[in-house]
Amino acid sequence: MQRYTIAVVVGSLRKDSFNRQLAGALAAIAPQDLSFTLVDIGDLPLYNQDDDNQPAPSVLRLKEAIKAADGLLFVTPEYNRSIPGVLKNAIDHASRPYGQSVWAGKPGAVVGISIGPSGTAMAQQHLRNILAYLDVPTMGQPEIFLQNKEGFFDGEGHFTPESKALLQGWMDRFAAWIKQHVK
Ligand code: FNR
Repeated sequence: MQRYTIAVVVGSLRKDSFNRQLAGALAAIAPQDLSFTLVDIGDLPLYNQDDDNQPAPSVLRLKEAIKAADGLLFVTPEYNRSIPGVLKNAIDHASRPYGQSVWAGKPGAVVGISIGPSGTAMAQQHLRNILAYLDVPTMGQPEIFLQNKEGFFDGEGHFTPESKALLQGWMDRFAAWIKQHVK
């Protein structure tokens, strides 16, 4: 059985991040031929173009993790109607030096959960814009905008049966999207 590896980039560094919980809960309902690895972005320096020729070990590790993956899953909160700076910092790091971006051609998808009713819609739209420029084929549908209300996660960070019913179709389409792009 062919296996597909997915690099998961979570846009929150918060210890109890709902988005990290969402990433874990999504991985738990994925088909068995997909495996998910969380990419650490919390130890990256602030991107500085002066360092392009002497990247920090954490930058090299990030780029290797993306290179090794068949696909990408971005799970992000919305900060002030856009993506968090830590996520943009990671994206910028892995896009450089010029001509050596590791994003191009990797199929991906975006999802996110917030406490507000907008459900990360604007952050996702900003992220899609960035990914389009970086040549990441990003799943267009289904879009999903999640608000973390009572009953979305159970007490242990797993989906409740209701949330699983909502997300299973999304995950199945994501798996198909990755397989369709990986030769
Ligand atoms: C937020 N939050 C937020 N929520 C939202 O729906 N739209 C927004 O624009 C913002 N803006 C915002 C800015 C900043 C700086 C913070 C810290 C928070 C609230 C956000 O949804 C909430 O903190 C989530 O819990 C963040 O996701 P994690 O860290 O739980 O994954």
